[in-house]
Amino acid sequence: MKIVTIVGARPQFIKAAVVCHKLREKHTEILVHTGQHYDYNMSEKFFEELDIPKPDHNLGISGGSHGEMTGKMLIEIEKVLLQEKPDGVLLYGDTNSTLAGALAASKLHIPIIHVEAGLRTHCRSNPEELNRICTDHLSDKLLVCTECGMAYAKKEGLENRSILVGDPMYDAFLKYSGKIERNDIVLLSLEGKKVTIPDQFYYLTCHREENTGNDSSLYEVLYAMNGLDAQTIYPVHPRNKNRVMRLNEKYHFKNIIFSEPVGYLESICLVNNSLKIVTDSGGLQREAFFAKKKCITVLDFKMA
Ligand code: UD1
Ligand code: UDP
Repeated sequence: MKIVTIVGARPQFIKAAVVCHKLREKHTEILVHTGQHYDYNMSEKFFEELDIPKPDHNLGISGGSHGEMTGKMLIEIEKVLLQEKPDGVLLYGDTNSTLAGALAASKLHIPIIHVEAGLRTHCRSNPEELNRICTDHLSDKLLVCTECGMAYAKKEGLENRSILVGDPMYDAFLKYSGKIERNDIVLLSLEGKKVTIPDQFYYLTCHREENTGNDSSLYEVLYAMNGLDAQTIYPVHPRNKNRVMRLNEKYHFKNIIFSEPVGYLESICLVNNSLKIVTDSGGLQREAFFAKKKCITVLDFKMA
């Protein structure tokens, strides 16, 4: 079969890294990168490190409002689907790239396979929740990670289309854990200087619109982390780099190491070596669980 896979954001590259080689053993895969994440350390680094095949189409669409970004992606993905005429479209997760892919494929009556289906936060103000609900309902095969996801799918009348397959993030964690040691991690400060990793540290990621869209929410997180008994390593998502730098200039969070985003091998090495994890990332919560680390979530809602 000919499958068009659509990716665009960091967590999708990680899942594609474990799925694409398996898929290509029996099928032809055409990889589409929407361009949603585009900095070297948010995109290309993952393709290089994780040996992900080069995208066949890069749409170069990023930034703007949710509607603007999703709309532009919808227009361009439709063109690719009309050109490639695939037997199916494979989508990952809950980003705007996922939703655009689901809309484009369903209107062209191309069957959709959704990896990581069934997850729910039950929080309608969370943009990813809207993306995942719409994508699940437009999909023909829902590949679900957990029993809990299967229960949500059943509740929404999607049971007959759902299959419990396990979590590709777990497969990735097993495949790539231990590929590098903590001494191999090159941590760059936001000013571009090399930073030494302390013996004991907390690992923080915080990038969600709800936590980083205004000074006071982000300040509360940083203030709390700065007061802990060990340093915190915080690779900063480009979305909130300017805000972080401005807040740090004002409040001098001496106990926090602010760094550029790290690659996946480095990120799971930080997970495995940290004291605890504090995060608003769905993926990192699961990695903390895989590594049997204590994890505190900085979210208004719970990711099931
Ligand atoms: C997206 C996903 C979210 C995921 C997150 C991180 C949606 C709705 N959300 O949010 O589920 O947790 O990715 O993986 O799709 N930017 C850069 N360089 C980059 C990428 C982004 O500068 O390489 C900046 C752009 O100015 C952009 C902003 O960050 O406007 C936000 O990026 P966007 O892709 O819209 O959302 P994320 O917060 O990354
Ligand atoms: N991650 C990474 N580099 C970083 C921060 C996170 O590789 O600087 C990894 C992390 O280990 C996890 C994934 O990115 O595998 C989570 O993605 P993200 O937080 O961007 O999105 P979410 O999981 O919230 O959708």
